[in-house]
Formats: sequence, structure tokens, C-alpha cells
Amino acid sequence: MCGIVGIIANEPVAEKIVEALRRLEYRGYDSAGLATLEQGHLTRRRAAGKLKNLEEKLRQEPLHGTIGIGHTRWATHGRPTENNAHPHATKRVAVVHNGIIENFRELREELTAQGHVFVSETDTEVVAHLVDHELQSGKSPSEAVAAALPRLRGAFALAFLFEGAEGLLIGARLGAPLAVGYGTDAMYLGSDALALAPFTDRISYMEDGDWVVLDRNSAHFTNAKGQSVTRPHLRSQASAFLIDKGNHRHFMAKEIHEQPEVVGRTLAHYLDMSQGCVRLPFDLPFDPAQISRITITACGTAFFAGLIAKYWIERFARLPVEIDVASEFRYREAPMDPQGLMIVVSQSGETADTLAGLRYAKQNGQNILSVVNVTTSTMARESDVIAPTLAGPEIGVASTKAFTCQLTVLACLAVALGRARGTLSPEVEKTLVTELIALPGLMAEAMKREAAIESLAPALAKAKDVLYLGRGTSYPLALEGALKLKEISYIHAEGYAAGELKHGPIALIDEAMPVIVIAPFDHVFEKTVSNMQEVAARGGKLILIGDDNAERDSAVALQATIKMPTMAPTFSAIAYSIPVQLLAYHIAVFMGKDVDQPRNLAKSVTVE
Ligand code: M6R
Repeated sequence: MCGIVGIIANEPVAEKIVEALRRLEYRGYDSAGLATLEQGHLTRRRAAGKLKNLEEKLRQEPLHGTIGIGHTRWATHGRPTENNAHPHATKRVAVVHNGIIENFRELREELTAQGHVFVSETDTEVVAHLVDHELQSGKSPSEAVAAALPRLRGAFALAFLFEGAEGLLIGARLGAPLAVGYGTDAMYLGSDALALAPFTDRISYMEDGDWVVLDRNSAHFTNAKGQSVTRPHLRSQASAFLIDKGNHRHFMAKEIHEQPEVVGRTLAHYLDMSQGCVRLPFDLPFDPAQISRITITACGTAFFAGLIAKYWIERFARLPVEIDVASEFRYREAPMDPQGLMIVVSQSGETADTLAGLRYAKQNGQNILSVVNVTTSTMARESDVIAPTLAGPEIGVASTKAFTCQLTVLACLAVALGRARGTLSPEVEKTLVTELIALPGLMAEAMKREAAIESLAPALAKAKDVLYLGRGTSYPLALEGALKLKEISYIHAEGYAAGELKHGPIALIDEAMPVIVIAPFDHVFEKTVSNMQEVAARGGKLILIGDDNAERDSAVALQATIKMPTMAPTFSAIAYSIPVQLLAYHIAVFMGKDVDQPRNLAKSVTVE
């Protein structure tokens, strides 16, 4: 969840480290810091809060070293204060860390008994002291790191800088991503290739258990067994992506508006438009006809994409789909069919719980298909087959375009499975493909409702609680709507299956409760109308997201309608995501919230 960087070059590195940290800020933004060697001496600058606070500090007290490490933090152990900010250091070594050291308490006790003095509340500080202890016993930096790493339990990506060692950076990885970048007389470490994109596109991804020693021209990898290994050099595509907001106020707004384009791009990758069929851009390494069951696991928004896909896969491919949030799936020892397929869904491809779910499924003999946005991610590399979403980098912490691209890929996959299993006729496939092709246009049309949606924000911003209701695929979308609203506006919101309301939550309804009903004109629309009547009868304020037909047939007093274009209902969740996202966005903006970097959150959750 934190971002780490290391640079060894022939010119001052502080500015470049800050630039890389800016590209990693999506991973955490509670505090930031960097360390360089100034005339051989470890020197740090750290600041609580956003990266701009560190930049201000560096303006006042610049650093000139040609080797350094940097960090942007998402706090796990210890408050987001300057004192807890990384790098953590002793006289001899400084370290930045992404992950959690699970046995830090026992290590801290042991090191304290040996005379080490701890000054922060973090788990990371033990790593600095552990390595320091080995250095004090006469080991070289590499030997000290080699001796310390096996003592750490948990997940980590680490970068080390040593007092007096102008030509040496060390990185290590276990359960959290770390990439090595190759420059000209310069070498880099970074949590992802995106961070290093301004400096190099030549990358090696470290494997779990690897550690690496860098000088200005080379990298020497050692694997978990202590063997010297090589890691392939890859060309990263990350530099192709501009990380800016364009004409938008926020990344989230830009990413919402990009959706017709990126969903169109994703469709073009998965469909043969001229033939009116799905053509997967990869071979399935298993026979879909032999699959007995699908398990989906994911977290947050990606989980809701999986939940929507369950409706599609069960309907088209007639396969039972089990789905669970990854933090539960990974520990509940689910029995798995020998012929099963596991689908993991993740924007980052690094989410710790989802990755653990993937590994559990792999150990249990499942075929692993990952729907990921970052195709160089750990999940992608550990899967049997990757179904990429072509959303491009998503910087806003609230997932928007990654979600609709996940839905697009999963929809195509569901149709492809149906065809391969003979449960979907070519005629029906053609109709479904026509409906998919219409989606980018419908999303662009939905975007035109933005001004109307924005006008609802002042009233909704006063609400203490908001309910979202939906049936069928609109039910997971209601869950996603509630998540979107709470994570960026901090208004409490819940999503419910519309038919479930009467089993308890209806007790919450009163005049102060806005109830947002996602109701495309589908086969369950009339049922949803009954649930709307129940809300209206109790004075709830109904806001309908639906088309002309839905508004006409709802026959209840509505506070407002967000008017959607008329569309075939099967994939409506993809187009209806637009008003759901815009509504949360405008409420949060009206309330003056930091929509791109909401409090307490991070984009990539690489800790459990
Ligand atoms: O990178 P992933 O898709 O695996 O991330 C999963 C969740 O952490 C993510 O979707 C999160 O819920 C978003 N902030 C929601 O907007």
C-alpha cells in the first residue's frame, strides 16, 4: 500500500525520487520521505501529509546526493506523523518498506534487549535495526541484508541505503511488488513500472523471495534459496501513458469521462464486430465444456464487478458461480472441484487478499484466469491466462473506468463460455454482441446528464445516510454506488437488493432518507416498482435512475429522475455505472472532499 523508490545515478536524485513518488502517491499519501547520502552520510527529509509537504521541506532544505530512497506511506503501524514516516534509519542504514512485518514485536523486544533504541511506532523500524545489528557484527551490507531477510515474517518490498556506500542500493521483495529499472549509468527500484516510466522503460520484475544488489550499471539478483539468478528484461508500456488530469478538475472526473472510449477499446479487443461474435484474444488453457464450477474472488469494486458477472455467467454458460470477497475466501478453506475455474478480478493485480485467494485456488488445482488492468502485475504473472482490461492507468483512488472495463471483459467472457459450452446459440450471441457494441454510445449519452446529476448534489450532500436499491445486476451496482459515495464523500451509504428491504432495512426509511433506485426497464422492473411504493409509503425520498419507460411506469412520487437512454437491459449495469459514479463524484466535490485521494484510503492494497 505504500510506494517505494530507490535511485542510484551520477547526478542529484532527490527531485527524481519526488517525481517517482508523485506517480506512486495513489498507493498511500499519509506521509512521505526520502534519504540520500550527503558526503557519504545518511540524511533524511520527512513530512506528514501529502507529498507536497515533503516538497516544501526539500525546497527549504535541499538534498544533493546521487543515491537515495523514497517512500509514500499508507499507515498500518503507527499514526501518520513525521516521526513514523519512512525512511527509518540508524547510523548505518536507512530503509523504506511497503507491507507489514508481522513478527516486529518479538524482533523489537530482542533488539531492544541488545541495546537498540526505537524511536517510532512502526513495524518497519525493526528492519533497519536488524540490518544495523548485522552490520555492527562486521558483515558487509549485502551480508547483513542476507542475514536479516530470513528473520522477517509478513509481506514486504524493501529498499536499503547504507552510510558511506555511494555505489550500493539493495532491494528485497516478498509478497509486495518491486521492479528494477535499467538506465544509462543509473539504476532504479520502484513499486511499479509506472513510477519509473519518466526514467526508463527497461524493467525487471523481482520474484517473491528475491533480493537485488544495484550499482550504477547493473543488478545482481539472489533468489529465496540464496542462488544467484537472472530476471528477464522487459519493455514497459507505462511511459506511453500520460499521468495528467487533462482538462478535468480531478483524475476521477477524467476517468469517468474516458469510459466510452476505454470500454470501446476493450470491446474491440474481445469482439469480432463484423461477425457479431466474441473472439477472446487468448486461448483458454482448459476446455470450457469440462469446467464444472467457477469461483470468483476479488475485493471492493472489483468484487462487485465479479458479482455482476455471476448473473451473466450463470445465465449464458449455465455454470454455477461461487463468489466471495478475497479476505474471506482465502481463509475459509473452501472445497474446490478438480475441474474448477478460478477468476480473480483486480485493477492493480497486486491486492494482497486477492493474490492469496489466487494462490489458494492454484494449490487446489484450479485453472486461474485473471481479469487485471496491470498486465505486468503479480496476479497476471501467476495466472494461467490473463484477460486484460484496457482501461489504462487509473489514478483516482475510487475505481471507475477499471470497473466498467472489468464488466466489459467479464460480459465477453460469459458470452464466450456460453458459446463454447453450447448453452448460447449463435443468434443469441449476435444479439448480445450488438448490445455490447451499443454500450460506448449509451455511456456517452448518459454522460450528457451530468449537469442534471450535479444539480442534485447540494440536497444529497445534507443526507447523513443514503440507501441504494436494485434488483438483478442492478443490485451489485447498488452496492457499488454506496461504496463510491461513502469512500469519497464520507456519507454513510448502503446498497440493498430491492426485495430485501422489507426484511429489516425498511425500518431506516423516513423523510430524511434519500433512496436511490437503480431500475433499468428489465424483467424485474415491476418488482422494483413495488419496493419503491413501500419506500414512498414511508416518506422516503426516491431518486430513480431509469429511462422514460421506468419513469412512466414507476407510478410513485419521485424526488428526481436521472434519465437514462433506453437500452437493452442485459448489460445495462455498464451504462448505468455512469450516473452512479457521477452522482457520488458531484456530491463529494460539492462537499469539498478530496475525491482523488480520500482520507484513510490507498489505491493498491498490498497488505491484508
Ligand atoms: O486493485 P484492485 O482492483 O484489486 O482493488 C480492489 C479494491 O481495493 C478497490 O476496488 C477499491 O474498493 C476501490 N477503492 C473502490 O473504488
